[in-house]
Amino acid sequence: MQAFIENMPKAELHVHLEGTLEPELSFQLAQKNNITLAYATPEALVAAYDFHDLPSFLTIYYAGMGVLMTEEDFYQLTWDYLAKARSQQTLYAELFFDPQAHTTRGVSFVTVITGIHEAQIAAKAQLGIDSQLIMCFLRDMSAESAMQHLTMAKPYVDWLVGVGLDSDEKNNPPSKFKAVFAEARAMGLKLTMHCDVNQDNTLIHMAQCIDEIEVDRIDHGINSLEDPVLIGKIKDKKLGLTVCPVSNRFVVQSLTAKEVQTMLDNHMLVTINSDDPAYFRAYLNENLIELQNEGQFSKADMATLIANAFNVAWLPLEQKQAYLSILADYVENN
Ligand code: HPA
Ligand code: ZN
Repeated sequence: MQAFIENMPKAELHVHLEGTLEPELSFQLAQKNNITLAYATPEALVAAYDFHDLPSFLTIYYAGMGVLMTEEDFYQLTWDYLAKARSQQTLYAELFFDPQAHTTRGVSFVTVITGIHEAQIAAKAQLGIDSQLIMCFLRDMSAESAMQHLTMAKPYVDWLVGVGLDSDEKNNPPSKFKAVFAEARAMGLKLTMHCDVNQDNTLIHMAQCIDEIEVDRIDHGINSLEDPVLIGKIKDKKLGLTVCPVSNRFVVQSLTAKEVQTMLDNHMLVTINSDDPAYFRAYLNENLIELQNEGQFSKADMATLIANAFNVAWLPLEQKQAYLSILADYVENN
């Protein structure tokens, strides 16, 4: 089963580029950029990772990205993730980035997006991994700041496939960003938002995502199972859910295998993803393998989880079908 998972052609739809910053690259960039880190070694940095909820993770996540300064730094970050993903048989990835977490440190929007974009092009040509970019807004910042960043993105709209919403969910409901997301939709972008596990008012937030924002996907979305009305809407609208098992474990002490199985049994379009793999110490294969260990999924279930990701990917139909037929061939022969 482990080899079946590792060699399976895959897609990843929920990964924060800043969350792929490995400790070794942090140290390399800190030295290059004359930044002093609070820890003596990469091992000491990892030892200090202490996450038990979303805010405790976000504090460490924002501190970590302070070493990213130049276009080359963003290129290296993106290249390293795409190379790692390709080594795990990920053929396609949709990548989140958080421009406000960089502009607030004095790093320009153009620096960030150009470095990422150039690495995406190089990785497609040299590694054979295709990717698209999703710009996230930080929900604990103002709607005005989000709108300003959407305006900054206008000349680069062809480099984006969608927009997302992340960071601290408490008291920051989807409705706060209704105008921003309407404008993004008018620019031709797809829409997604985080509904992290066990957040305050999570069912209200999910209902707002679906009814007010009219999102195309929901990130995480585990708690939707508590509300039959939400389940019905998610199924009717064929909304993908990007579940992140190892990320969830830091909050709910479970990989949510039972919930994932319930979603599969309900024919909901659940997908498996790594979220912030450098921090949670688990890329996509490790997420799938650990989930399998907890939930004892069948090969057919594992194949459905991956097929769901290709199905809800923001790709033209022919491209989805091409990936799905590569997956079907693999499943038939393994
Ligand atoms: N949730 C909210 N904000 C984030 C996350 C997440 O999973 N990862 C990086 N920023
Ligand atoms: Zn996330």
